Amino acid sequence: MSGVISRDVNGALPSLNQKLHCGIFHPVLRKWQCTENITSFNIMYPVFILDVEDAKTEVESMPGVFRYGVNRVVDELKPLVEKGLKSILLFGVVTHLSKDDSGINADSKDNPVVKALPILKQAFPDIIIACDVCLCPYTNHGHCGILRENGSINNNLSIERIAEVAVSYAKAGCHVVAPSDMMDGRVAAIKQGLAREGLDSTVSVLSYSVKFASAFYGPFRDAAQSSPSFGDRKAYQLPPGSSGMALRAAARDVAEGADLIMVKPGLAYLDILRQTRQNHPHIPLFVYQVSGEYAMLYHAAKAGAFSLLDGVRESLTSFRRAGADCIITYFAPNILDWLAEGKL
Ligand code: PBG
Ligand code: ZN
Repeated sequence: MSGVISRDVNGALPSLNQKLHCGIFHPVLRKWQCTENITSFNIMYPVFILDVEDAKTEVESMPGVFRYGVNRVVDELKPLVEKGLKSILLFGVVTHLSKDDSGINADSKDNPVVKALPILKQAFPDIIIACDVCLCPYTNHGHCGILRENGSINNNLSIERIAEVAVSYAKAGCHVVAPSDMMDGRVAAIKQGLAREGLDSTVSVLSYSVKFASAFYGPFRDAAQSSPSFGDRKAYQLPPGSSGMALRAAARDVAEGADLIMVKPGLAYLDILRQTRQNHPHIPLFVYQVSGEYAMLYHAAKAGAFSLLDGVRESLTSFRRAGADCIITYFAPNILDWLAEGKL
């Protein structure tokens, strides 16, 4: 039998404790090898709310993702909540309301999110409702803050307005405000605004702390009609190559009092996710599997490259392994079905 078992350079047999198959040959063993599993508590579903009350439109660049008017959204979400959905993230989409230079309709009484909040809270008293806070869907220039005449960001005016919008959503009943604008000092401004209204103990701030200037937001800008009309967002979103800025951004937001922090996008930034988890072991960490990631997985699966279930499962597993507590994903409806079927 000599030669069947490979020997090391000294002629010794491989040691028994270097064998791995014996630890993974059974499905239960494989579960025990994985540190984190996936449950409905680890999933947050982004929902686009239209300013046309009875409308339902598909996002062309994200097949299977829809925008709903306030009169449609409860019926659409009900089956998901029944399947165990625990949290949603609301985005307003404006197609008819006017846009101006300070995003007046971000929190007017006609804003679709402001209108949807009391309805959703009544319909689904047990889920947690987060609201994206940004100006870009509501400004005529499509940038995330208020601009100076030369087109650069006026940071002070921006955070004042963003805090005002966050407080409006809090007053309308949301549990979590999630600023995605990336202005300097907005977490502190929002916290102050909430405190002034006595809402600081009953509303959480989920900061998009580590948000990179990414190509993977493309389909979202179609979904939310929020593309900048000129220029780009590189002067306020982080440069993809900089882990140092990522570190500073997370530390800054935690110091300003963020209750929950986020890394975004997901799959191309797993190292950043791990780094953020290691630097902030005691705060819930979110990761956003963004619109472009949804589109990539969807189209790859559709083209037969792999099954959607296998691709999505592996992406979710990698987020959990890297340290995410909660994954914001457009695949939430599929995931709830797969969880019920025991496939995750
Ligand atoms: C807007 C916002 C964006 C996303 C969430 N909020 C786009 C951007 O910053 O350009 C991206 C979400 C996604 O791509 O799924 N501030
Ligand atoms: Zn924005």
